[in-house]
Amino acid sequence: MVRRNAPGPAPAGPRLPSQPARRVSSARERSSGRLPRASPPAAGRRARGAGETPDRDDFDPRGQQDPGVTVRAATPDDAGQVALILNHYIRHTTVSFKPNEYSDDAVRSLIEAQPFWVAEADDRVIGYATYGQFRNGPGYARTMEHTILMAPDAKGKGAGRALMATLERHARDAGAGSLWAGVSGENPEGLAFHKAIGFEEVAVLEKVGFKFGRWLDLTLLRKWLAPNS
Ligand SMILES: CC(C)(COP(=O)(O)OP(=O)(O)OC[C@H]1O[C@@H](n2cnc3c(N)ncnc32)[C@H](O)[C@@H]1OP(=O)(O)O)[C@@H](O)C(=O)NCCC(=O)NCCS
Repeated sequence: MVRRNAPGPAPAGPRLPSQPARRVSSARERSSGRLPRASPPAAGRRARGAGETPDRDDFDPRGQQDPGVTVRAATPDDAGQVALILNHYIRHTTVSFKPNEYSDDAVRSLIEAQPFWVAEADDRVIGYATYGQFRNGPGYARTMEHTILMAPDAKGKGAGRALMATLERHARDAGAGSLWAGVSGENPEGLAFHKAIGFEEVAVLEKVGFKFGRWLDLTLLRKWLAPNS
């Protein structure tokens, strides 16, 4: 498989629920939470048995999943480790169009304001995912946009897939109709990942970003969460 390379985007968005820890071994979990903040996970996830069929609305959970990785709701104490990951991508890449790094306090505010999960291995935060409204205002209350970033040395463990399974379930349970990703035109890894977990490319917004002295395209990808949305 291709993999490893580019970094990731940056957060934003309003408030919704937060949640607790889950094993990454399978991408199936039962619901939890309502909107505001990442709510606690119902029982832990269970590993999918051989030949077991995925839920209708679940994406393919197969893949290499490091059994030492867990996904849990972020807490304010995670802010420093999350900031390390986010700021790496801000400082060195066009995965995020943001020019300015985040302080720990700014990340802490994000964690407190919206649903936010971290993937953890060996007591270290190796990645995170969060979501909020696609655009501001009540008219967009059921349309969400997420951000997911893994530490550069922690890719390919299945943590991204597991984080998204948790996030999607939460957004679906909270009533969201669709989930959107905005991926930099210079991030083929982000594109491949989202397509692998069931997102479809909807549009390319040309030259809407500008960083490191050059214009950047933004690819919008969507995944329907509700059958009639
Ligand atoms: C994209 C990213 C979040 C994926 O997380 P990850 O934990 O490495 O991904 P996983 O190991 O869960 O991989 C899930 C699937 O995505 C696909 N995938 C992931 N990275 C890929 C790559 N570089 N090339 C092709 N496919 C890839 C694979 O199909 C993989 O399934 P498999 O392991 O069964 O083959 C992570 O690589 C990352 O943070 N990249 C930099 C930031 C970024 O691009 N963020 C998203 C932009 S919005």
